[in-house]
Amino acid sequence: MKFSLALAAYLSASIALAAKFDVHSIPRGTSKQVVPGAYVVELDPSVGISALGGSKRSVSPHSHLYEHMMKREISWTTTQEYLSDLFTGAAIRLENENDLANLASIQGIIDIRPVYLHPPPKPFDQHVVTGPNDPALPPDTFSTHIMTGVDKLHAEGRFGAGVKIGVIDTGIDYKHPALGGCLGGNCLVKSGYDFVGDAYNGTNAVIPDDDPMDCNGHGTHVTGTIAALPDNQYNISGVAYKANIAGYKVFGCEGSVADDILVAAITRAYNEGCDVITLSIGGPSGWTSGASSVVASRAAKAGRIVTIAAGNEGSSGMFYASGPSAGIDVVSVGSIDNTVIPIQHAKVSGHDDIVYYSLAPLNFTETLPVYPISKTIVADDACKPLPADTPDLSKYVVLIRRGSCPFVTKLANVADKGARIALVYNNGGSPVSFEPERIPGALIDTDAGAYLLQQYLAGSPPTISFPQSGGAGTVNNPTGGLMSSYSTYGPTFDAYLKPSVSAPGGGILSTYPLAKGAFAILSGTSMATPFVAGVAALLFEARGKNKDTARAARDLLQTTSIAVPQTRNETSLLQTASVQGAGLVNAYSMIHYQTVVTPGQLLLNDTAHFDGRKSIKITNNGKKKAVYTLLHRPAGTAQSLPAGSIQPNLYPVPLTSDFATVSMPTSVTVNPGQSKSVSIQITAPRVDASTIPVYTGYIQIASDSGETLSVTYMGIASKLRDATILDNTDEMFGFKLPALLDASGNATTSVQTYDFKGQNYPTILFRLAMGTRSLVFDLVSEATTVPGTISKRSVEDGVERRGLFSDIWNWFKGWLNGGNTSGGTYAQIKTVGGLASYEYNPRHTQSEEVDVGYSTFAIVNGTFANHTAIPNGRYKVLVRALKISGDLKKEEDYEAWLSPVMVFNATRA
Ligand SMILES: *[C@@H]1O[C@H](CO)[C@@H](O)[C@H](O)[C@H]1NC(C)=O
Ligand SMILES: *[C@@H]1O[C@H](CO)[C@@H](O)[C@H](O)[C@H]1NC(C)=O
Ligand SMILES: *[C@@H]1O[C@H](CO)[C@@H](O)[C@H](O)[C@H]1NC(C)=O
Ligand SMILES: *[C@@H]1O[C@H](CO)[C@@H](O)[C@H](O)[C@H]1NC(C)=O
Ligand SMILES: *[C@@H]1O[C@H](CO)[C@@H](O)[C@H](O)[C@H]1NC(C)=O
Ligand SMILES: *[C@@H]1O[C@H](CO)[C@@H](O)[C@H](O)[C@H]1NC(C)=O
Ligand SMILES: *[C@@H]1O[C@H](CO)[C@@H](O)[C@H](O)[C@H]1NC(C)=O
Ligand SMILES: *[C@@H]1O[C@H](CO)[C@@H](O)[C@H](O)[C@H]1NC(C)=O
Repeated sequence: MKFSLALAAYLSASIALAAKFDVHSIPRGTSKQVVPGAYVVELDPSVGISALGGSKRSVSPHSHLYEHMMKREISWTTTQEYLSDLFTGAAIRLENENDLANLASIQGIIDIRPVYLHPPPKPFDQHVVTGPNDPALPPDTFSTHIMTGVDKLHAEGRFGAGVKIGVIDTGIDYKHPALGGCLGGNCLVKSGYDFVGDAYNGTNAVIPDDDPMDCNGHGTHVTGTIAALPDNQYNISGVAYKANIAGYKVFGCEGSVADDILVAAITRAYNEGCDVITLSIGGPSGWTSGASSVVASRAAKAGRIVTIAAGNEGSSGMFYASGPSAGIDVVSVGSIDNTVIPIQHAKVSGHDDIVYYSLAPLNFTETLPVYPISKTIVADDACKPLPADTPDLSKYVVLIRRGSCPFVTKLANVADKGARIALVYNNGGSPVSFEPERIPGALIDTDAGAYLLQQYLAGSPPTISFPQSGGAGTVNNPTGGLMSSYSTYGPTFDAYLKPSVSAPGGGILSTYPLAKGAFAILSGTSMATPFVAGVAALLFEARGKNKDTARAARDLLQTTSIAVPQTRNETSLLQTASVQGAGLVNAYSMIHYQTVVTPGQLLLNDTAHFDGRKSIKITNNGKKKAVYTLLHRPAGTAQSLPAGSIQPNLYPVPLTSDFATVSMPTSVTVNPGQSKSVSIQITAPRVDASTIPVYTGYIQIASDSGETLSVTYMGIASKLRDATILDNTDEMFGFKLPALLDASGNATTSVQTYDFKGQNYPTILFRLAMGTRSLVFDLVSEATTVPGTISKRSVEDGVERRGLFSDIWNWFKGWLNGGNTSGGTYAQIKTVGGLASYEYNPRHTQSEEVDVGYSTFAIVNGTFANHTAIPNGRYKVLVRALKISGDLKKEEDYEAWLSPVMVFNATRA
């Protein structure tokens, strides 16, 4: 359980904002998460038929591309070829980046997208189980099945027989007896492919083969949640263990995976007939439009169920949807905490045993007296290095109060003074177990901490010991059944609801590679996603494997899910749908309900594009007339930003009771075998638009026979176009952003001369408070003034609508070939040349848990984007960020920043 994350994030929200980042710690150069020179090229599938002017012969689109590249003397290697009704194209690596413009001009290319890297799956807490008597084992290993009605479907003999599930992950230890023990033929893991080889890290060469053996562990755990066979030593089972598994390995043992591989894996899983495709993979995106998001969404649209993890970046707050789960038609899955939490008992002299929150006993066998670091209640106990007069702590069980900084920081500070074991007492937060670092440690309850402190102050410090067996148990997790604190918040910047639904993902026991202990407990949306993949297989089994079932799947999942509250308090608001989607899936209702309601979600968009007039269709497949009662159940309205700030709220995003109003009939009667449409008019709440409030809720449809379904709605009570994109405050660095850095890495506002030797080149430091579809760096003459004074002229819409991205792609081609051939009002700004252009950027975050707080752009070699040298002279850099829902061609739809004057004085041969 990743709970250490939740704590740190919670606390950083309340820390007064001194500058959070230090400019001197910034790595030099341009920061970007792409593979240099690598691109995914999408080809028009019909190109090549009459290729090469007049020639009669017809070639494949790929051959067409390669012939034209050769004609243009481009040097490249092809890393992947895609041929499928989902996607036709190739992934290529250019030997020379200069050739991008040359490549872009080849006819038949629909789109060229940079290859982004996705970080490896990172569970928040992990515990490898040592044996059947491991005290960490929760007594009821089926708690997650009970939470979702899967146990009842199993009792009916439904196990996903005949359904093929493609698992795109780190591979599978198919030798594991609980995963069938073999590969191919009649094995549980019927087929597999390794796209990359064990040594792959995201940027180096791939060495594919047919063996999807897992050297990481993540994919084996994911597969167990779907399909672990019963009769193993722990008596666990997967949701759909009679399904066939195809294992697609896309990670090496460590490191990232690049988009070109994900596109290849999704395409292959699709071509090989996987009914369900599941990916517990992703990284911050915010847009529905990354290459892998789009291909995943196309697979869903083409009639497969595609489940993808919503992400583990809940600490960052709203609008942080992860790619590829942001793909429009995929099922994005959030994580719900398990209902039970494992505990251990410590022995305390003169007192009953006390509970501590841990999966396993603390690895400490001595009996020592307690020693509190602070003798009074302090908020930031042990957050800073301890004073010099601190005694040697090696002879004590050190007692620290929770709060203000992560557990690991506290443990490190006491370990520096010799401590070998520590207990952290609660300050009112949720009980959590955390992965101790450096020294063993765990959380205890507030009362227990108060008792120990009081006994110490009374002059009789108790001694404490940690039995290595027999002390295990479970308690009801106070956050059980609620959203996991790490689960990522949506929506996307283009106003799509993410996640779609949620499933148990916290504290999940499943299979692990034999070489790594065979079973482990992990937490994350990675664990929730295969659960829903398994549920999808049960759906196919029940309703038939066909496109109609697949296309209905998300609606069925959503309408039968159960929305959960924000907290256990009786007065709690419902949690925002922008973090839980429709709520906790209920597999039993999904398969057995006689009522079908469509669609599963109503997307209302922002106030500028508001669409509040909706209709839902209620179908009664039962044998009797049904009377349905309709009820509006609003969820808390999520405040994306604090009032008066442009920096998004961190976890937990505050909720208010500014609800939308809904007008609809209060009841509807539907005859057996009939459907009825119901009009629903939703009106957005009147609230402070500057906080970008996201209002959500549920239209509940309850039948007189006891079936209760819900349709989720989501809207944004502001104009997204008004949101500030470029952070223009001094809150993060202590000086205003964006900023130009001088040769020594300091922010400067004076004229700087750069000779491009060593680190003497310009660097622009910036943050995106919100995401932007288009972030552009252009070189302009020093005479250029802040744009905004340029007269508008009408925009002619010559956009070619063939590819999904053709508007941005056409714009990019024009820009790359020498500035402003893109037309529109921006054509009137004279630029000297383009420096860089980035599409579909996520926002930055101030969360300390996520390492993407800012970016830099550097003109390292003194060249334009096309790698032609910039002539010596005096310039400024113009940075433009397209506002959300802005028009690429309208100057007034961009935020802009002009750098101070910079003198380029390179010595060139
Ligand atoms: C990936 O591996 C290659 C060598 O195989 C190495 O040069 C490169 O630095 C590695 N990249 C990362 C991000 O670790
Ligand atoms: C327990 O601690 C001992 C020494 O303190 C160490 O050698 C051993 O590896 C630890 N065991 C585990 C399972 O961490
Ligand atoms: C919301 O409106 C914007 C601007 O028209 C559009 O691009 C986007 O796709 C819309 N979102 C949804 C969910 O319809
Ligand atoms: C429940 O919420 C109410 C209103 O916010 C608050 O006064 C009360 O203290 C809360 N109770 C608990 C047990 O947290
Ligand atoms: C850059 O900043 C550091 C720290 O503030 C300072 O010591 C150094 O002198 C500065 N360098 C220049 C060239 O101003
Ligand atoms: C590269 O871009 C610059 C600036 O737009 C332009 O002047 C130059 O002609 C381009 N070079 C090539 C080879 O296209
Ligand atoms: C700068 O030039 C060097 C040498 O040609 C090259 O290796 C490097 O990739 C270039 N860096 C950038 C950011 O273009
Ligand atoms: C440009 O560099 C040359 C040496 O390479 C130097 O003599 C000259 O002063 C520099 N010009 C400026 C404006 O810094």
